[in-house]
Amino acid sequence: MSILKDKNVLLGITAGIAAYKSTSLVRLFVKVGANVKVIMTPASKDFVTPLTLSTLSKNPVLSSFIDEEDENAVWNNHVELGLWADLFLIAPATANSLSKMASGNSDNLLLATYLSAKCPVYFAPAMDLDMYKHQSTINSFEILKGFGNIIIPAVSGELASGLVGEGRMAEPENILTFIEKDILQSLPLNGKQVLITAGPTYEAIDPVRFIGNHSSGKMGFEIANAAANLGAKVVIISGPTHEKAEHSLITVIPVQSASDMYDAVHNHFNDSDIAILSAAVADYKPKKVSIIKIKKKDSTLQLELEKTKDILESLGKIKQNKLLVGFALETNDELENAIKKLKSKNLDLIVLNSLNDKGAGFGGTTNKVTIINKNETITNYSLKSKTEVAKDIMNEILKLLDA
Ligand code: CTP
Repeated sequence: MSILKDKNVLLGITAGIAAYKSTSLVRLFVKVGANVKVIMTPASKDFVTPLTLSTLSKNPVLSSFIDEEDENAVWNNHVELGLWADLFLIAPATANSLSKMASGNSDNLLLATYLSAKCPVYFAPAMDLDMYKHQSTINSFEILKGFGNIIIPAVSGELASGLVGEGRMAEPENILTFIEKDILQSLPLNGKQVLITAGPTYEAIDPVRFIGNHSSGKMGFEIANAAANLGAKVVIISGPTHEKAEHSLITVIPVQSASDMYDAVHNHFNDSDIAILSAAVADYKPKKVSIIKIKKKDSTLQLELEKTKDILESLGKIKQNKLLVGFALETNDELENAIKKLKSKNLDLIVLNSLNDKGAGFGGTTNKVTIINKNETITNYSLKSKTEVAKDIMNEILKLLDA
């Protein structure tokens, strides 16, 4: 999954021959799951049609402050567009538009939106080689970079004039990769590795039976997505689950039993900066596993169980400066029990689920948590989707990393 999935991408098109490539750009952004809106300068419509771009982007294409042919026309609000965008890409960016952007000119909708945009702005210049090298163009680049805008440099090749040299707009695929990499680098967990346990464990009784629990694994996979969206590389050690990870930064290692999970976690802990143990690990397992299927004979059957190894506790003993997060599922004296676990297992953060709260815990799509950090600061969260709870947990982790 691309880091651009579900992001709002505003594509600004100015009047250069490379505008024909903007159709490919729109397709690429849509393909990775971004929401795309296009703004064109009036002159760029001579190079590529708004109809093509609105069909590909599945959104109306905007180019003037008011649609003069529509008697019910409403004002195209550049401020709203600027706020809607998570990123604004101007491609192709002509020398003329770049110079206007640098000087604060806002005589068309694209330029007014540029001045209103609060999101990161990328621009991909496209022009003839002498224009590209002209001091005035270089000055525009420098001024725009000074504003914090990001240049996607032009490349060398054959130009529309027939001349060969620097000035060709970067290829659409390369523009997309450039932006994805740039966003990843700016994310707070870029370069960090996060280890997550998720789902239930299955403890074998015989070749066909096991002791398990109702954990779906959803919470752990949502935390993995939230961590990957912050730029972390994520390894999920997961018990049996139907959940799937689609993010390119997430690797899933499937396991069955508590003992398998223990081994896999310890194999990856060294390389991790943060470990979040959300799995519902069995506390007990059958002492003996029958190698043949147990036949029904007597009216009762006794299974002797023994404790599994506590993975979380074992990590607390070796964690050094890694950040360790545990979960606590409680039915009574919730806060007191959770704080006890936080201390005894040497955690930085504990996420408390109370089974007394409706919509919390196993199975469903919602959860209600209280998060307690190592300083015993307690934060109560409302009932939310597990996607949102995962973001709250990651925000608490970011706060601890910043502290
Ligand atoms: N956990 C673990 N290994 C185990 C058991 C639990 O890593 N063998 C982790 C869980 O992933 C969770 C935390 O420990 O992060 C708390 O689990 P919970 O069952 O609430 O608490 P326990 O410590 O097992 O204590 P109790 O069952 O007595 O409440």
